Amino acid sequence: MEELEKLKKELKKLNAEYAKIKDIAPEKRGEFGRSLNAKKMALLDQIMKAEEAQFDAEVLPLDISAPCAPNEKLPELYSVLEGSLHPLMVELDRVISIYQSMGFDAVESRQLDDEYHMFDSLNFAKEHPARDGYDTFRTEEGFIPPAHTSTMQNRVLKKFKSRLDEGKEIAVVVPGRVYRNEDVDATHEHTFYQCEGVYVSRDCTMGQMLGILREFFEKYYEQKLNIRTQPGYFPFTEPSLEFMIEKPKSLGGKKGDFLEMLGCGMIHPNVLKMAGIDPEVYHGFAWGGGIDRLVMLRYGLNDVRHFESGNLQFLRNFK
Ligand code: DAH
Repeated sequence: MEELEKLKKELKKLNAEYAKIKDIAPEKRGEFGRSLNAKKMALLDQIMKAEEAQFDAEVLPLDISAPCAPNEKLPELYSVLEGSLHPLMVELDRVISIYQSMGFDAVESRQLDDEYHMFDSLNFAKEHPARDGYDTFRTEEGFIPPAHTSTMQNRVLKKFKSRLDEGKEIAVVVPGRVYRNEDVDATHEHTFYQCEGVYVSRDCTMGQMLGILREFFEKYYEQKLNIRTQPGYFPFTEPSLEFMIEKPKSLGGKKGDFLEMLGCGMIHPNVLKMAGIDPEVYHGFAWGGGIDRLVMLRYGLNDVRHFESGNLQFLRNFK
């Protein structure tokens, strides 16, 4: 500690020496400057080492077996190194709690999956060009970092199927990280988050689905919203819709400014069948949409790349 103070004082003195350069005869200035620089480099090196030693002395004596908090230095260090949850995680928690308040269970997606769950179980015909629409990455072994959270539908349906036998319904949301081999720009990232919803019962309807989605978005943006749908195409739903909300005035929107928030539809009978659920008896609806986009609208962000950038200046805005 004292050593460090001493070195810093020396550095200050040395820095002051530079002011003398102008009084020195021009032919000697070069040599004078070089010798000052050399001293300064050596001093800075010593200071860096002393700072490291000081840091080690403060951090390393952490006794992880200590019963309570005898490491008094710890709170001080924490206040210097304080971190926070990533904004996407904070918002994902909000998303999940809204669905939970409506009676949905939450199951996390996975980061590596296979052809069956990513495509086959979702009624993508073999070699169908729709598979290309998902810009999937593949490992050398042929595994797929999932390009959508729908990759979990078959598992969720199988896992919760017994609920149907008990006369209840399947109501699950699946948040997860997804990956696509896309050109990255302000609105496209190779890594982003989605949340999937899956609902199955004897008598559910598209109207119920739209009611759930409206409720979700109105809770998330804390205001009444205008919604609109248009026909879409997904092999795993029939019919399929694109669900849009009108960008609220409070978030900089104008009338008629509709944004597509997710894809949805009635679960295709083949998808139910592949999970061992009889499509003659049960019906379902499902939806899936990006979390990043949801959050960008809420906070008026215009570049999705911030989220994966690790840029502290950006992240600290959300502390
Ligand atoms: N998985 C689709 C995508 O990433 C979104 C989606 C559409 C999910 C329709 C669904 C659905 O569950 O029913 O583009």
